[in-house]
Amino acid sequence: MSNSILFETNQLGGLTLKNKAVMAPMTRSRADKNHVPTAIMATYYGQRAGAGLIITEGTAPSPNGAGYPRIPGIYNQEQIEAWKPITKAVHDKGGKIFMQLMHTGRISHPLNLPEGAEVIAPSPIAPANTEMYTDQEGIQKIPVAKEMTKEDIEEVIEEHVQAAKNAISAGFDGVELHGANGYLIEQFINPGSNRRTDEYGGAVEGRSKFVLEVASKTVDAIGADKVGIRLSPGGAFNDLNPFDGQEETYFYLAEKLKKLGLVYIHLVDHSSMGTPEVPKSLKEGIRNRFGGTIIISGGYDRSAAEKDLEDGLGHLVAFGRPFLANPDLIERMKQHADLNEPDFDTFYTPGEKGYTDYPELEMSSSVG
Ligand SMILES: Cc1cc2nc3c(=O)[nH]c(=O)nc-3n(C[C@H](O)[C@H](O)[C@H](O)COP(=O)(O)O)c2cc1C
Repeated sequence: MSNSILFETNQLGGLTLKNKAVMAPMTRSRADKNHVPTAIMATYYGQRAGAGLIITEGTAPSPNGAGYPRIPGIYNQEQIEAWKPITKAVHDKGGKIFMQLMHTGRISHPLNLPEGAEVIAPSPIAPANTEMYTDQEGIQKIPVAKEMTKEDIEEVIEEHVQAAKNAISAGFDGVELHGANGYLIEQFINPGSNRRTDEYGGAVEGRSKFVLEVASKTVDAIGADKVGIRLSPGGAFNDLNPFDGQEETYFYLAEKLKKLGLVYIHLVDHSSMGTPEVPKSLKEGIRNRFGGTIIISGGYDRSAAEKDLEDGLGHLVAFGRPFLANPDLIERMKQHADLNEPDFDTFYTPGEKGYTDYPELEMSSSVG
């Protein structure tokens, strides 16, 4: 039966989502070498417009933030124009789409960056796992990042604000700040990567200052109902680890983000991908303090999503790999149909293979 809480509509700020299933942000590296989106990306996202909300792959707000090969950017006019057919393809099918703004910070390599850009981070500490793929020379050692000056910090905040405005002019319904998975925002939040002794480091307030300034100025620029954030409390990705005082940090952030009126917090739990389980108390404490829309993610299928929605653990559920491999995931879940398996080998390779060629269900007369 398709009669399920997962397929009910949901209000998100000013948007009515057609269901509670979100497509999780997934880097697919199908932009060109200059970080400009390509035509096949419109096909890919359009195929997945059955989601209540699509969150795009991590997108660089500036040249310094484009640390992986062929990830898209939103910092120049060519990129803005190239995103327009993508937002249109989703809107034409009644879908909604937010852009994830991802500044890679120290998870980067100069060969992947546009000319003149540099690897920057809160502190000059390379991640312990120091290897990264480059198109030009294969796997390379990640260099130690340049420590950001106060001026660099101000510049990066402005880059996020401008990127958010650019996203709106490209037709996006909003932006998601990538505060998770070890990228720049989390590099400020986590004391493992933030050893600063100025006002952007140290205790909770200092480590939270960068993300809160980015959030506050982005809200001022495009409106609170168009700004969400992804966080990975207790996460262990890209060489960031759970830390002493993380509850205090994330509870403080949840309260401040509530005051700013962000439209959602998107919580990552990657224990289904082999990282340690995120403590329930941590997720619950954030949910209670924030009080607004929570998107939960990590390892969900239809029945687990329904259970956690019914239990009030979140208002929306994001699906990553299931959406990657099943353009018609919503229809398949409604019909309890089998799912295609994702092909890891083509996650980040250029071209249509493993991208726009996952099969859809044959038109079926089944009533589910
Ligand atoms: C190929 C791939 C790329 C990903 N890229 C991103 C990304 O750009 N930004 C992000 O926040 N998470 C990214 N993730 C994590 C997913 O959003 C999601 O949290 C993860 O896949 C777990 O959800 P799932 O079990 O439904 O796949 C990526 C995951 C995959 C498989």
